[in-house]
Amino acid sequence: MTVALAIETSCDETAVAIVKDRQVLSSVVSSQIELHRTYGGVVPELASRQHLEWVNPAIAQAISQAQVQWDDIDGVAATVTPGLVGALLVGTMAAKTLAMVHDKPFLGIHHLEGHIFAAYLDQPSLQPPFLCLLVSGGHTSLIHVKAAGEYKTLGQTRDDAAGEAFDKVARLLGLGYPGGPAIDRLAQSGNAAAFALPEGRISLPGGGYHPYDSSFSGLKTAMLRLTEQLAAAGPPLPKADLAASFQNAVAKALTKRAIACAQDFNLSTIAVGGGVAANRELRLQLSQAAQGCGIQVFFPPIALCTDNAAMIACAACEHLGQGRRSDLGLTVQSRMPLEAVMSLYGEPAD
Ligand code: KG4
Ligand code: ZN
Repeated sequence: MTVALAIETSCDETAVAIVKDRQVLSSVVSSQIELHRTYGGVVPELASRQHLEWVNPAIAQAISQAQVQWDDIDGVAATVTPGLVGALLVGTMAAKTLAMVHDKPFLGIHHLEGHIFAAYLDQPSLQPPFLCLLVSGGHTSLIHVKAAGEYKTLGQTRDDAAGEAFDKVARLLGLGYPGGPAIDRLAQSGNAAAFALPEGRISLPGGGYHPYDSSFSGLKTAMLRLTEQLAAAGPPLPKADLAASFQNAVAKALTKRAIACAQDFNLSTIAVGGGVAANRELRLQLSQAAQGCGIQVFFPPIALCTDNAAMIACAACEHLGQGRRSDLGLTVQSRMPLEAVMSLYGEPAD
């Protein structure tokens, strides 16, 4: 049994959790949504300052909720990449300090690996290989999970992430921030077949289309043009139909690619993660399509799909269990390919 305390501050959630292998002992998530709502998106500098204010109380709360002592904790982890550098620094410095003070190993964790590990918290018996469809505000990826630390990105977005597209289209329709939940809600009363929208296919140089990559910028532009045309024709704007048609286009594109990818790579399980995994239409379309071809789909509870530190701690437990640790000189990085995750546990550079 391995127990890890992890801190996640890569974007706009200040989160601290304690996990014993695949069991959550405590998980504290303080969301900054209200702080950033006025600006319609995350303001990096404000995010860092809020993390600074909230991180210590969150650590204290996580320890008290888990009812553990420092003696019970085997390692301290933090998300070190990818994310907003200033924000990542807050959690990373806090984790390194705790590791030093309590003489514990420090582990830097890749945020996307954390999202993959969320699936284990929900399904402790899950074993690789499986396909992870990661759809968040910053990422849209199809990841072949071969083993802990061994990943291959098979498909991704060439421009906007799925969640980013939801947020931008919501802003266009005047629905506020974050846009995903607002579109999801409004789409319930709309007609998904009201407007035909592009699928966002990526052409290949030799002809044909990339089977797993996606693009959402064309869809976003189509929504802008459509909204302009409808507005010019006079009110009221059929917002519910627009939301439903847009949501249907995104769900269809993601479902098609995830199923094709799982089939081509003989993967019988798809685990979905990231905030967009909350979307009702995606859940419906992907579950139905998977059922039709004998693929198992796991949608973890929303609290594990959106950013949290439990998923980071779970990944840390795995690496700690394998005897890995990071050098205290490890720095945060705004981006790093998931394939390079093992470099976080290399020998000190000197
Ligand atoms: O994973 P997440 O909490 O944070 C990132 O790492 O980005 O994802 C946030 C994204 C936002 O873009 C938000 O609009 C989207 O997830 N989202 C949704 C839904 N709930 C959250 N998108 C579509 N439908 C939803 N129900
Ligand atoms: Zn995330």
